[in-house]
Amino acid sequence: MSLKEKIDLDRLPSHIAIIMDGNGRWAKQHGQLRVFGHRNGITAVREAAEAAAELGVKYLTLYAFSTENWNRPRVEVNALMQLLLQTINQEVTTLNKNNIRLHAIGDLESLPPRNRKHLQKVMDETANNSRMTLTLALSYSSRWEIVEVARKLADQIHSGQCKPEEVNQQCIEKLLSTHDMPDPELLIRTSGEMRISNFMLWQIAYAELYFTPTLWPDFRRDDLYKAILDFQCRERRFGKTSEQIQNVKKQE
Ligand code: FPP
Repeated sequence: MSLKEKIDLDRLPSHIAIIMDGNGRWAKQHGQLRVFGHRNGITAVREAAEAAAELGVKYLTLYAFSTENWNRPRVEVNALMQLLLQTINQEVTTLNKNNIRLHAIGDLESLPPRNRKHLQKVMDETANNSRMTLTLALSYSSRWEIVEVARKLADQIHSGQCKPEEVNQQCIEKLLSTHDMPDPELLIRTSGEMRISNFMLWQIAYAELYFTPTLWPDFRRDDLYKAILDFQCRERRFGKTSEQIQNVKKQE
């Protein structure tokens, strides 16, 4: 039985988020510059997206460029922006063929104008696709997002749209860049690092975390299947006791 066949399709995580890490180390292992690792990471992006869509995962979110990544050497930042531009333009046909919608979250205003323009074009061209939403987190960080939410809330209070005592979790969720998708149920990080690195801090409150030593450019379909199988062995309690969860299952 293959790994794919072992997956229970009725218990798939509806949203998987991935911190793609290890491109630089992979390039070093191959005696190449860091950019070589990023370029080879594109195969892994394609594999993860196609495998997730084929299984029936509805949302896949990839941490492609963090707010902090702007502090990397200029040459690496430029290469990443170029790679992003090239990839989204090249992949539009495949996205449409696979019925995948491209979406982006983050401080998109800070991207080079050419990237912004092409990203918007591909998002528009795939907007009606319904099999899966592939979200790229670009110039994204959770603290940036939370500050944005705080500003918008302050505006709403200032303009009388909302009273301070009315602020609740739903008000915040509506203002997050992920307001139109469910929270990730499974968060994967590659390369053996066990950190969250400022990614979706609000949204992963109850996500199952999965860390793999595989470096991102080596990530393939089977790595995704392994993560999902691991997820399916977990008991998700959401603050309740194990007995409460088991009782609900028996009643179903
Ligand atoms: C982390 O590895 C990876 C990134 C900062 C960029 C991820 C980008 C890609 C896979 C390519 C572009 C993506 C899309 C969706 C078009 P690292 O450089 O931090 O690796 P290291 O920790 O080994 O140095």
